Amino acid sequence: MRFDVITLFPEMLDVLSAHGITRRAHEEGRWTIRAWNPRDFTTDNHRTVDDRPFGGGPGMVMMAEPLALAVQAARSAQEAAGVGCAKVLAMAPTGAPLTDARVRAWAAYKASGLVLVCGRYEGIDQRFLDQCVDEEVSIGDFVLSGGEIAAMAVIDAVVRHLPGSLKDASAQDESFAQGLLDGPYFTRPENWRGAQVPSPLLSGHHAQIARWRREQALRRTLAYRPELIEAARTRGQLSRQDEVVLKLAGEELRQVAQTSSEQSGDA
Ligand code: ADE
Repeated sequence: MRFDVITLFPEMLDVLSAHGITRRAHEEGRWTIRAWNPRDFTTDNHRTVDDRPFGGGPGMVMMAEPLALAVQAARSAQEAAGVGCAKVLAMAPTGAPLTDARVRAWAAYKASGLVLVCGRYEGIDQRFLDQCVDEEVSIGDFVLSGGEIAAMAVIDAVVRHLPGSLKDASAQDESFAQGLLDGPYFTRPENWRGAQVPSPLLSGHHAQIARWRREQALRRTLAYRPELIEAARTRGQLSRQDEVVLKLAGEELRQVAQTSSEQSGDA
């Protein structure tokens, strides 16, 4: 897979090929990256890439033309390298949320080239987004100083789904693969500062371990991301046994919430 990243800070991207799973996959030739600086596509002495917003307001807006030229150059380079450009993505807190499903879809693209545009300042001229970008992507409901970290999150998440990047079946087991958050993990020692590893994990009983893990995943998902439980239910992915666990877990959560509200009422 080839990633072309439009950014004012190309050196920020270096960490991806320097550490961990993404480094190994890079060394194995599973992905390549090239940065394009919009400043290299300006024509004035100051190499201006931003200007004040029409209509007033704080901050600066990234101008359409340097970004459009950078995207065009990136697409041409992909084409020249025999890589089809699957999508042009712009990183922005106003985009659609990044999800496991979107990541897996991009990793599976036959075209195998992505262009990622990193915004800085207050935003990007909407006309560039309308004319040159396929999708806007947000990595969460918070505002970063720029799109670089978001683009790196996308690349990291996509790379680990490229064939051969992960050594084992990790990607099938991890969070979201089954539409649920993953449960807790434990390693040696069995007793750490008085806290024991849950006994099912020590039983050596595969079915019992699988049942315990499923229950933990359901409980955690219900507590932190109840909308994922609803989605799994709609897809028909919850068994009768799952529903029994969820009913009990729901009652326990309500009990805990009630106790803590009573306590804060007393205070
Ligand atoms: N740029 C700034 N904040 C962002 C966010 N939350 N997601 C993607 N890009 C961003």
